[in-house]
Amino acid sequence: MPKSILVLTGAGISAESGIPTFRGSDGLWEGHRIEDVATPEAFSRNPVLVHQFYNQRRRKLLDPSIQPNAAHVALAKLEAAHQGDFLLVTQNIDDLHQRAGSRKVLAMHGQLLKARCRDTGKLFDWREDLSLETPHPLATTRLGRLRPHVVWFGEIPIGLELIQEAAQSADIFLAIGTSAVVYPAAGIVEATPASCLKIEINLAATPTSSVFDRSIRGSASIEVPKIVEEILSMP
Ligand code: OAD
Repeated sequence: MPKSILVLTGAGISAESGIPTFRGSDGLWEGHRIEDVATPEAFSRNPVLVHQFYNQRRRKLLDPSIQPNAAHVALAKLEAAHQGDFLLVTQNIDDLHQRAGSRKVLAMHGQLLKARCRDTGKLFDWREDLSLETPHPLATTRLGRLRPHVVWFGEIPIGLELIQEAAQSADIFLAIGTSAVVYPAAGIVEATPASCLKIEINLAATPTSSVFDRSIRGSASIEVPKIVEEILSMP
């Protein structure tokens, strides 16, 4: 069995769980332009709109109908059965990998179910709406100092050094359900060694498909369990 496995997931892995992907055909993100809801400038300009946007997404994520699918479950199985190094890097801000049982999850674009203090950077588990009236959990007279713990455009993703290290030592790299247009995530494949077996699973071709040894066209819930079985049976 290969020693070191690195997995990168994107919105496509959660699509079959009922969470819409980012780049729909209309170019909008759930009806909003990205620059209106996912930049630090948007939050300074219109914090109410930005909070509302993430509040809606958080509520949706907590709806009982949203559950991990077979692809999330298969990756948790791979991690549990694998003897060597394993890292799952996700661009998703949902918690479906964790709910499926994955343990080493690096959420490089943040997590919807965490809030971050704008002054200290301290993180809090968060399942409620956020607003400009939300009291700080540690200083309840201070209002509106929490923001969603998500990486906005123009901000630096989380854990880049760790991701780079994992990429450089990967024997297998799986990229699942990501459009490969947002960097630095889209560049991870280029940081893997030539000897690394690179496999992409996506409904459609992406700008980096040609860099992969295998580019599998299909839905994550069908194709990821198959690849996991294949990896687990490798000598
Ligand atoms: P995108 O919405 O850009 O791309 C989703 C990809 O998943 C597309 O390439 C689809 O073809 C594919 N896809 C959809 N359904 C699938 C399925 N059932 N099985 C397999 N593939 C499927 O999402 P990301 O690549 O994750 O960043 O987007 C990257 C980043 O852009 C996000 O993390 C977010 C966004 O702006 C930030 O918010 C910082």
